[in-house]
This record gives sequence, structure tokens and C-alpha cells, in this order.
Amino acid sequence: MQLLLLAILFVLVSTSEGKTCNGNGYRTDCGHYGIQQYDCEQLDCCWSPKDHIPWCFHQNPDTVYRVKTLIKTGLGYELTLEMTDTQIPSALPLLDVSITFETEDRLHVKISDPENKRWQVPKEVSPYPDPPSEAPTNTQYEVTIADEGEEFWFAVERTVNGESLFNSSASSGVEFLTYHDQYLEIGTDLPSNPTIYGLGEHVSSLRLRTGQTYTLWNFDAPNPVDVNLYSSHPFYLDLRDGLAHGVYLRNSNGMDVTLNEQSLSYKVIGGILDFYFFLGPEPETVIQQYHDVIGRPHLPPYWALGFHQSRYGYPNIQALKDVVADYHEHKLPLDTIWSDIDYMDEYKDFTVDPTNYPEGELKAFVDQLHTDGQQYVVVIDPGIKNEESYKPYDDGVKAGVFIKDKDDKFFVGKVWPGHTVFPDFFHPDADQYWHDQIASFLDIVPVDGLWINMNEISNFCDGECSGGGKKFNTTDDKRIEEFVYKDEKDVGFNPNSPPFAINNKGSRAPLNVKTLDMDALHYDGVLEYNVHNLYGLMESISTKLALGKLSNKRPFVLTRSSFPGSGKYAAKWTGNNHATYDDLYYSISGMLSLQMFGLPLSGSDICGYFGDSNAELCARWMQLGAFYPFSRNHNNKGATSQEPYAFDEQVTDISRHVLNARYSLLPYYYTLFHYASRPISSTNSPAATVTRPLFFEFPDDPNTYDIDRQFMVGNGLLISPVLTEGAVTVSAYFPEGRWYDFFTNKRETKFGGEMRTLQAPLEKIPVHVRGGVIIPMQQPSLTTSEARKTPYQLLVALDPCGVAQGSLYLDDGISVDVSSYSLITYDASSNEGQTSLTSKVEGTYADGPDIPPLDTIVVLGVATEPSSVTINEKDVDASQIQYDSDSSSFTLSKLQLPMKDKFTIIWSE
Ligand SMILES: *[C@@H]1O[C@H](CO)[C@@H](O)[C@H](O)[C@H]1NC(C)=O
Repeated sequence: MQLLLLAILFVLVSTSEGKTCNGNGYRTDCGHYGIQQYDCEQLDCCWSPKDHIPWCFHQNPDTVYRVKTLIKTGLGYELTLEMTDTQIPSALPLLDVSITFETEDRLHVKISDPENKRWQVPKEVSPYPDPPSEAPTNTQYEVTIADEGEEFWFAVERTVNGESLFNSSASSGVEFLTYHDQYLEIGTDLPSNPTIYGLGEHVSSLRLRTGQTYTLWNFDAPNPVDVNLYSSHPFYLDLRDGLAHGVYLRNSNGMDVTLNEQSLSYKVIGGILDFYFFLGPEPETVIQQYHDVIGRPHLPPYWALGFHQSRYGYPNIQALKDVVADYHEHKLPLDTIWSDIDYMDEYKDFTVDPTNYPEGELKAFVDQLHTDGQQYVVVIDPGIKNEESYKPYDDGVKAGVFIKDKDDKFFVGKVWPGHTVFPDFFHPDADQYWHDQIASFLDIVPVDGLWINMNEISNFCDGECSGGGKKFNTTDDKRIEEFVYKDEKDVGFNPNSPPFAINNKGSRAPLNVKTLDMDALHYDGVLEYNVHNLYGLMESISTKLALGKLSNKRPFVLTRSSFPGSGKYAAKWTGNNHATYDDLYYSISGMLSLQMFGLPLSGSDICGYFGDSNAELCARWMQLGAFYPFSRNHNNKGATSQEPYAFDEQVTDISRHVLNARYSLLPYYYTLFHYASRPISSTNSPAATVTRPLFFEFPDDPNTYDIDRQFMVGNGLLISPVLTEGAVTVSAYFPEGRWYDFFTNKRETKFGGEMRTLQAPLEKIPVHVRGGVIIPMQQPSLTTSEARKTPYQLLVALDPCGVAQGSLYLDDGISVDVSSYSLITYDASSNEGQTSLTSKVEGTYADGPDIPPLDTIVVLGVATEPSSVTINEKDVDASQIQYDSDSSSFTLSKLQLPMKDKFTIIWSE
């Protein structure tokens, strides 16, 4: 009884007016960061610093939007909403809602200001499809909305089972809808213990945790756990009893998304509420439907799938030459050597250090790399040194393409070269400016790609550095009216510390910490406040455009900052991690989340960036990293060397072993990239991701929902790395099915649906092939260009019914135009002890004279030695058939089958 009383007292707080506030459950922030009790209560809000944030909160919905008009249209509904409670004048008096049934599995709900004055992400920056001309007929969703005169809410249900997927009139005290100048709030109820993924970029577990706020605000931090990082991806995937749906909030402003035990809420500090719902129902289809909206990822050049070595602190060209030579000497595959800022003259973009990286010598080095089938990629940062007579600065001043401060001067921050200004990619002349700088640089050093770093934008000052920039007069500036803040206390528009403080930096820090001031101005008066999260994406677009024009080859761009749509232009790594086992583990969820966000060419700095790596950690990281889609070893200046040969012979051997596995699997990876990049119009693309969580393949198996220490490559490879210091075993989950050891071809004795303890001494990473899948392979080589020339091999892993399928995509790996390609599909099926394997060829690339033949086929899961094997009805010579009873597999070798020819291979057990 006493306990109960205490509990009641705990949640009931009284304000100065004697009003009783319920402090339990959901709270809507009423104050601002640092607000005190008196000010809070003056706002007629509840004050309760005893428990969770916010301490100052609205008791009741402060803004009630009622449905004024509701029209059923051919494509859905159009509504107008009217605010009927005017406690806070900064709330918008009128709103428009349009609900569009776009496809059978995509619904669009947009809640905006009637005059469209508020900030919206431009279509050219991050795309979205046009509405259809006709409504789809059998939608997977049904929409319920409030009636005219009622308080507005909407709900989305899954047609097939009536499950409520999103309901803005949810329980637990969530506001139906709040819509202020600088504060928008909406939410939904969720089933208890929700299964939610996405909402990046964060270093966190793959499955998001309840009771946690995920803040989206691009920020350069050394990868702290759960804190907002370099990118913003307001997308989540929700999985319920095997059925998945996705929710995308198309908004570039800062936001907190809070996942509670039974609800999810958005608190957004600008823009509009523009939602897309994707009905799946498989996780992989949700992702495809999402990528259809934001743009499919690019197909990378083939060499980008090779291994990359980078570090900050290679002191001169000789150091680069030594690394390339050491890789070669140790017979370690290496495609690309990278330079961090060391190559620059005083860290200035588009220059080279005349002493340590002299022009002529650097060019000769790069030419030699190209002769050897290798590549060179260098970093550039957006910050252009604020220095007269430095051409990139002078050109930018002349063109007026730098971001400006509130006083109409160029905004001056500070990065590696000292005081810098920043290109404004909203300026219509910025692409030409950026192109010209890149063009001049390529004349000096013919690099194969650019690594765009620090583009959050990262700044060593919090906001503008003192000293300021050069005055630049324009007449085109008009600030968007949205930000005339009309609070009754007349606090004015406070760009860096708006009334609601998102949890920036994990401490509700001002928005300009380590970046620009939020009243910095882009072209046409666009405020940094609105477009901060878009900068990395816009730089990626401009950089890719320039490289594409200048080289006529598929461009390669690696970015640190991203937004929905970035995968069309760039690869992405997870930023500045640490040489720790924790970060080894987090690299998996980082990579898998980026797959959902449409950035499949992703991975983490192998062996760790900050801090000294060591032999064991680096060996384990090379083993895991060899299977990242983007596989790069990168290290900080001053840290222990961590190239795979830098420790001892064992680490070198381990690295060679896994890199050889990677290089032999390149045809499989490249085929997966092809599917991920296939345009919207093409049907039957099996997947949008390259690596994927286990639940993507086994959504009906709840045991997979929390797994983020293992992952799949495509649908056919299961990777179970060791992530613990000193461990020589790993406990791994095997979903139902048949699994074979990739390295020994041996079938696991049990068929799955269970945790198993696998032996994994230092030299071993467990990799398993899933029965039912055919994996195209080639021979390992020291470069991808050499590997491409080796004969093909098929790894046919039969399922318990003797069935398997796979495909292989072929093109020249570098052309921008991929109209010359081949897609070969392989199909194995069994009937009464007889198995046939057939191929089908689509397209003409495989007809080329230099395409290596299919030489070897390895079939896994064959209980007895085949009695006869025929290819296209001709007997295969017994010397070409090798049965291994130990692994129940057989190998057909010396086949020399042209890739362009269809074949049927039949064997009987
Ligand atoms: C939405 O939630 C409200 C409040 O819990 C409930 O009354 C309503 O039935 C729900 N609607 C749908 C379609 O889920």
C-alpha cells in the first residue's frame, strides 16, 4: 500500500498554478536546453527534474489540429487541418495533409504548410518518385483517418492481417501532432518489445534498443556509442512475426527519434513531416521499395571491390612505394593504395607537397600503379584554405561559391590547413567550380578516385572562427520566412540553440558544435540550419559528376557523411573507429545498417583507426574485413603500423588466406552489386543489399532478430567471425537449412535452427555456404584485374532436395554505360537420384574473346560418388571427376566451357 502511494506521488507533480501534471510515460518538451523552473512554469508547463528528460514538458496536447476539410481523391485523401488551441503562437495555424496511395506497397503521407514555404529537401538532391497517374488496385495497406471536425490522426494497417503499423493517435500519451516553426512532433504506438532497425548513423547494436533516443544530426565525433555521427538516415525497418515494413521520414533537419517500450516518436526541429511507408513484406523487399524512392546504389568499378591500404602518416612517396612492394613480396592482394592528407602541400586541397610528394615523381608512381593494374585514391576535404593567391580560393571568391555567414561574408571555419571557407553546393556555379579544381588536380596526379572526408561539415571551431572572412555582397539573399520565431516571450530565432535541443553530441549540445553556425547562408538564402545534414550528399553528387566527366570511367567516391540517396554516388566507411574488440564488433552493425540505407559499398577501417592495433586483433579484423563489401585497412598517424605484413608471419599468412578467399569471391560480390544497383524499372531483382543481417534471409526465425555478430553475404554465405580477445571458439547460430564449410566443403552434421560452438583458432574464420545456393567464383590473384582473367568456378551447394540456384553478372567492370553485359543464371535440380545443372545466358558480354571459360564445378552435398557425368549429353572423362567421400563433394575440372554457351550437366548418384 505504501509502495503504491509512493509510486503515485512520484509521477504526480504540481505546478505553481496548482495544476497536477502526470510525469509518467511520454513527454513533449516545452522548454529549451537549460530552462529553469520559473520560466518553465511561466509557459504553463510541467516541471519535474526528478526523472527523465525533458524536465519541462507539456501536460496536454498543446496544439490541437482538427480536420477542417477532408476530400477523397482518386489517389487517396487531401485534408486541411486547423489549429483550434492557440496556447503557443509559434505553432502553424493551418496545415495541409496529402495521403497518396503510390503503389501497392508504398504509401505517402505528407503534412506540410499550405503555402509550401517551409524547408523541403530538394528533389534534385535526394529524389522521390512522382505520384502515379492512377491509384493502385490491391494495396497491401489500408489507411484510417480522423473525420471532419475531429482531432487529426492517421493510421496505417497491413491489409492481410489488420495489423496496425503506424497510428499517430496512439496511446501512452503521445501527442497526435505538434507543428511549430522549430518543433514538430508525431509518433506511433508499437507492439511491446518492438523489433526495429535503422535510424542511423550510430555506433550501436543492430536491433535498436527501447528507452533510447537516436539523434540524427551530422557530426564528426570519434565513434562514441549511441551518439549522433557523420550521417543522417531517418529510415527504420520494423519486423513483426516475420512481416516487415519500413518508414522513411523525408526530412533533413535535426531530430530525435525515441524508441520506447510501446511507442516511437519523432521530435524534429524544422522542415515538414513527409512520410513514406513501405509494406514489404520481406525485409529485403522493404529495402528495395525504399531504394526505389531514394535512388538505387551505384554499380562500383570492379577494382573498388579489391583490397585497399591506407593510413594517415605515410611520410612520402617512398613509403607508398614500400607498401605496394611489401604487399607484392608477401603475395598479399592489393588493388589500391591511398593517401590521407600527407600528400598535400600544407594540407591544402588540390596541391601536392613539393618536398615529400613532388609532382613528377608522384605522377610516375601513379602511372606505374596503373601499369601494374593498381589504383591510387587520395583524400580531399571540403575546407578550402582562406588564403589569397591560392587558386582554389581565388576561383571560389570570383565565382562567389562559398558558404556565407550571417553578415554576408564568407563563413570562415578551421580545418587542417588552418582557416578555411567551404564550397556551397547549392550555388548553381559550384559544380563547375568543383569540376575545375578536380580537373586541374587530375592533370597533376591522375588519381582513380576521391575520398571526401570531413564533410559533416567538420570544423575545429564551434561555429565561425573569430577573425571572420571577406565581405561578399550579393542581392539574392532572402531568409526563409519560416524562421521568424513568434514565441510570446519573443526569444527570436535562435539558430544554434533552438527551443528544443536535440541530443547532439549526447549532451544536448548546441547545433554549431564542431561545425558551422546554423545561420550560415547557402545560395538563395538557404539556412545551414535546414541543410546541414545534406552537405556530404551534395559534395558526393558534385564530386562524382566531375570525376565522371573527366575520366569517362565509372567514378569512385568514398564519403564519410551521407543522407538518403548518397549510395547513388558514393561508397561509405564508418569513420574514425578504434583498434578495439568493441569496434570490431560494432563494424558489423555499421555495415549492415548502411546496406539498409542504400550504401552497400561499405565497411570499417580494418584493424582500427585510433590507437595501436596488435597481431591478434588485426588478424581477426583482416578475417572479418575481408568480407566487408568495402575492404580497407586504415590507420591513424603515430599508431603502430598495421599493414597485414607488419606484425608477424602468422598474421601475414592469415591475411593472405582470407584475401585470397575475397578475391576468389569477387564474381559473387559483383553480381550482388549488380542486383542492388538495378534500376527501378527492372523487375525480379532478387535483392537490394550485398551483405545482410540473418533475419533478412530468415524473417520467420525470431532467433535471428538480435544477431549482429554474424552476417550473410548475399543469400549464400554465412560469416561468423571471432570478435573476442583470446577466443579460439565462436558460438554461431545456424538457421534451418543445410550448411557447408566454405573452406573444407564439409557439410555440418546437423541441419540448423540452433546455436553451435565452432572451433576458430586464430588462423580460422568460420564461413559457411548455404545449401540451395550456387556461388560463382574465380581464382585469387594479387589484383582484381588479374583475378578477372582467371577461369571461372561454380560452387554448387545442394539443399536437402538436391536443388540450388545462382547467377553471375559480367561486364567490363569500368564503363559508365553498362549496356554490354551478361547475366548467367545457374539452376540445379534433382529427380530420382539424377541431378541436372543448367545455365542460361542473357546479354552479349560473355561472347567476348577474352572472357575466361568455366573450368571447375564443385558440387557439395553428394552422398555417393556419381556413377556418370554428362555435359550436353557427352560423357565426361573419368579423369575430370574427383569425388571426395570425406566431404561428400565432387569436383569437375578442366571443363573449358565457354561462358557464353548454355549447358546441361547431368549426374546420377
Ligand atoms: C489507433 O489508435 C487509437 C487509440 O489507441 C485506436 O482507438 C484506433 O482504433 C487505432 N486505429 C487503428 C487503425 O489502428
